[in-house]
Amino acid sequence: MTNIRQAIQHGRKLLADKAHNPQQEASLLLFHAIDKTKEFLIAHSDEQLSSTSFQRYQAYLARRIKGEPIAYIQQQKEFWSLPLKVFPGILIPRPETELIIEATLELLTNKDQANILDLGTGSGCIALALAKEKPNTRITACDNSPTCVEIAIANAKNLAINNVNFIISDWFKAITNNNFNIIISNPPYIAIDDEDIEHKVQQYEPESALFSDNQGLEDLLHIIEHAPNYLSAGGSLLVEHGYQQGSDVRTQFIRCGYNDVHTLQDIQQHERVTQGTIAK
Ligand SMILES: C[S@@+](CC[C@H](N)C(=O)[O-])C[C@H]1O[C@@H](n2cnc3c(N)ncnc32)[C@H](O)[C@@H]1O
Repeated sequence: MTNIRQAIQHGRKLLADKAHNPQQEASLLLFHAIDKTKEFLIAHSDEQLSSTSFQRYQAYLARRIKGEPIAYIQQQKEFWSLPLKVFPGILIPRPETELIIEATLELLTNKDQANILDLGTGSGCIALALAKEKPNTRITACDNSPTCVEIAIANAKNLAINNVNFIISDWFKAITNNNFNIIISNPPYIAIDDEDIEHKVQQYEPESALFSDNQGLEDLLHIIEHAPNYLSAGGSLLVEHGYQQGSDVRTQFIRCGYNDVHTLQDIQQHERVTQGTIAK
């Protein structure tokens, strides 16, 4: 028999050269295996694990050792303090994507009402974070993957958020409204032959969420070109992009007639989000 403390030590050793923080990951996998909170583990560290729980924990450890992202094992990822369901087939929300939320909230300072479009919503993370912060906005969020739309709807339901309308759409194809105040997108932007991409990311996360033709720029250029047809006068487009794509993205914004085009840097000082406004 193994108690909680011993199980965490066991996991920590197995994950020693596989995880950034073996102690934390072992604890996360254990509380997922026994369906309890961190606080429970701390208060009950001498409690014995049932053999079923220990076997489940061992299975999770084996998946993690092979390199599967912990979010897929837990089937959950926190984004903007919201717990979101994620499964293989859906991109795991990244912390750097919180920058586009901050930039959008800045645009919405002193404004409660706005009509917003999120293109390529994935888990729904961007749309749901904005909807939580600004419950009086009306948000349309689309993805061309029916699986993503299904999970995003489930995430909205779990969080009791009801001001987001999720639809299946190949970028703008199914979008009928042309009066959005803000359009946001974190599209696929990695070049197909990018050698820097981590092998584990490529192995486990959906290709359709990661890669784009034309050195990763194809979807960005398409969105920047077509967004003005869907924005109201004075409306803004914000896109996330790769850290080396800022110059190409700004050139396309300017070519397509946006004003006040500028790029924000993420916490690592990488160019990450570019925005521009359509003239009034
Ligand atoms: C980088 S992921 C971003 C997901 C989510 N917004 C996030 O920030 O985590 C890009 C998303 O765009 C979607 N996508 C790819 N091509 C698309 C297209 N042609 N039309 C709509 N969505 C698309 C993918 O399915 C994926 O969910």
